[in-house]
Amino acid sequence: MTRIVHFTDMHLRWHQSGSAIDPLRLSREMPTLLDRFSKCLENHNPDVLVMSGDVLDTPGIVLRGGSPDHKTHDEWIEDAKADFTLVKEWFEGTSIPYVVVPGNNDHEGAFASVFGGPPEPVDIAGLRFFCFWDELSDEQQPLRNGQRKALFDAAMTDNAHNCPQIHVHHYMIAPPIFAKNKHYQYLTADELRADMERGGRVRAVLSGHYHPGTLISGSTVHSGAPAFCEIPHPYRLYDLFEDGRTVVTDHSVEA
Ligand SMILES: [Fe+2]
Repeated sequence: MTRIVHFTDMHLRWHQSGSAIDPLRLSREMPTLLDRFSKCLENHNPDVLVMSGDVLDTPGIVLRGGSPDHKTHDEWIEDAKADFTLVKEWFEGTSIPYVVVPGNNDHEGAFASVFGGPPEPVDIAGLRFFCFWDELSDEQQPLRNGQRKALFDAAMTDNAHNCPQIHVHHYMIAPPIFAKNKHYQYLTADELRADMERGGRVRAVLSGHYHPGTLISGSTVHSGAPAFCEIPHPYRLYDLFEDGRTVVTDHSVEA
């Protein structure tokens, strides 16, 4: 049995000033909460930690090359790097292997300068983890194209990847969700899901983005964990058994 702990949408700010616009997102409490989360992990003893993006809450204007205040854009990027470094040091401090991807509120360049990338498949605890740094269309719908689609196709069809896989990305494949006037699933979600079902290699798709969270059980689990930044600070645990069963349980730091 392999155990994964998954959390997502932390929206942390510490070196970056201010907090997320949505007051439910407790950006400035996240460093303290991570310390409490570490104690939860000691009880669960996971083999792998997965964080599926929106690690930070960097203002949209900074992501687009500007600044919302007196600080320059470059100063904001340095603060974002310091926040990513805070999170990286927390991961390293757990001594648990981890997988982390950026979300749409993370600056990809700052993320890559701290965590490295673009990502390659990595084998941990008998599973092959594929990470996808996808993008949004002008209509804010997730897209998988170019090199990310090529990586997905290789995962599905290359003999070298004929092994149990976990796919980690910020955006969701299933179920389709339309909220806040935008689609949360990929434009090609049906096609991606059908390819996965046909190939039979993917044990779980771990994502975030839609803060209330979603879950589809089955031989391929589609799990969008609820947002860690909001009370009661939820996270998910997956026990993957060798007979193909996956048991999913919900937990929270506050519980
Ligand atoms: Fe988010």
